[in-house]
Amino acid sequence: MVNFAGISFKNPVTLASGTCGFGRELSEYSDLSELGGICTKGLTLHPRAGNPAPRSAETPAGMLNSVGLQNPGIDEFIKTELPFMRTLGTRIIANFSAASVEEFALCAAKLADSGVDMLEVNVSCPNVKAEGLAFGTSPDAVAAVTSAVKSAAGNVPVMVKLSPNVTDITAIAKAAEQSGADALSLINTLLGMRFDLRSGKPILANGTGGLSGAAIFPVALRMVYQTVNAVRIPILGLGGINSADDAREMLIAGASLIGVGTALFRDPDIAGKIAREMKDSRE
Ligand SMILES: Cc1cc2nc3c(=O)[nH]c(=O)nc-3n(C[C@H](O)[C@H](O)[C@H](O)COP(=O)(O)O)c2cc1C
Repeated sequence: MVNFAGISFKNPVTLASGTCGFGRELSEYSDLSELGGICTKGLTLHPRAGNPAPRSAETPAGMLNSVGLQNPGIDEFIKTELPFMRTLGTRIIANFSAASVEEFALCAAKLADSGVDMLEVNVSCPNVKAEGLAFGTSPDAVAAVTSAVKSAAGNVPVMVKLSPNVTDITAIAKAAEQSGADALSLINTLLGMRFDLRSGKPILANGTGGLSGAAIFPVALRMVYQTVNAVRIPILGLGGINSADDAREMLIAGASLIGVGTALFRDPDIAGKIAREMKDSRE
């Protein structure tokens, strides 16, 4: 049992946002009740179709994606996906993003009312009022989003998911903590791109995308370690975790919970295996 921001998780293993949908497909291959929690696909106020294809590309020891937050919208999530997720027997963390501070607050209020266990605020998305610069790159913008979400979320704990595409992650982490965040999760994907040798054009239709998977594990460990030493709130560490040993290393870096994402594409039961192996080694 792990107490994280006032919520009890049966173990430290969670599924990362955007890599498990709402658990429907994965639940056919893995018993999700064995996990501490599951983060939903990134939700937005209105439904989104996402970016044009190709939306993913292979990389050595990882992948690039530019899915573009494809999702059914918060109202539809609450109506059709959440009732299913409640049957999974694990904690539900609602990941969401928005284009303005006001929209973040609106999303937070709807999700907090829906009965999810925790909110995860994805600040790696463009702020329409700052010429599209990602909220997560500015301490002031992260502070404004965090305060607005906290006031709208009532008693539901708020975890802010940090972007690694910054010079000093601790400045952003402190801004979130000072504005009332109950927890932090890190890291989101690292911005990258690849080109097609024949056409000379980017492989992803969107041009750039987010790098995830084993390649980013050392970066994630470094950022979690730095952040743990800069704030007092608990941290969910993720980025490139592929095995129980990786998960243990992330806990040594100082994380209290860990997230498994890209590794699920290789083995849909990998998070279950990690949870079982960690449990066996504790007994
Ligand atoms: C296909 C894909 C979709 C993702 N979608 C989201 C998302 O909607 N919201 C979010 O906060 N993070 C999203 N992420 C980032 C992951 O949750 C995670 O932070 C990142 O991939 C690093 O972990 P990993 O290396 O274990 O995948 C996505 C990652 C991938 C690969």
